[in-house]
Amino acid sequence: MSDDKTIRFYDQQSEAYRKLAEGFENSRLIRLMQDLPAGAHVLDLGCGPGHDSAQLARAGFKVTAMDASREMLREAALCAGVTTRHASFDMLDDVAAFDAVWANFSLLHAPKAEFPAHLAAIHRALRPGGVLVFSLKTGSGEGRDRLDRFYSYYEVEELTGLLEAAGFRVTEIEHGHVTGMAGSEEAFVTVTAHA
Ligand SMILES: C[S@@+](CC[C@H](N)C(=O)[O-])C[C@H]1O[C@@H](n2cnc3c(N)ncnc32)[C@H](O)[C@@H]1O
Repeated sequence: MSDDKTIRFYDQQSEAYRKLAEGFENSRLIRLMQDLPAGAHVLDLGCGPGHDSAQLARAGFKVTAMDASREMLREAALCAGVTTRHASFDMLDDVAAFDAVWANFSLLHAPKAEFPAHLAAIHRALRPGGVLVFSLKTGSGEGRDRLDRFYSYYEVEELTGLLEAAGFRVTEIEHGHVTGMAGSEEAFVTVTAHA
């Protein structure tokens, strides 16, 4: 299930979000692209306007870009070489289909109660040894930001436990700070885990 208010926000703000993301080079994405074999199939889960999907496609990877916001997907569909899929996280039902799942600041919009099922579905969707890289804001609990988007916040120990329970091996944890659309600087973590 996706949160209606959150998806409505992204539908209404897809253009503004695209402008915000434009020109931003994600060093973790560049490193992922260097590590993947040529032609690998990558799922950009919660792809937004497809900035990262486009970069992956330009580098020669096969890209499936999935998002619950139709307007975000409309932007992503304009990126050459990107296959789009309008679906929420709970609709992911692929089996051993992807070499990598890239979920940049998207899974943080799922309720905590649904997160273990999403991790299990991602694990199933990855080929054996496939890699999941995702970023989330750190903290505790759930709630809405000042733009009415729903967020779940996690500490690293909590994430590690959930990933291990889903069958992942956590291989890297990186910390950073980001200022998003709500305008406040927040701490985040980028986690790399292997299936
Ligand atoms: C902060 S944006 C990140 C977009 C993109 N990954 C990026 O890094 O620019 C969060 C995205 O997650 C999507 N999203 C939120 N809840 C979702 C859900 N339940 N299923 C699929 N996509 C969802 C939103 O529509 C939005 O495009």
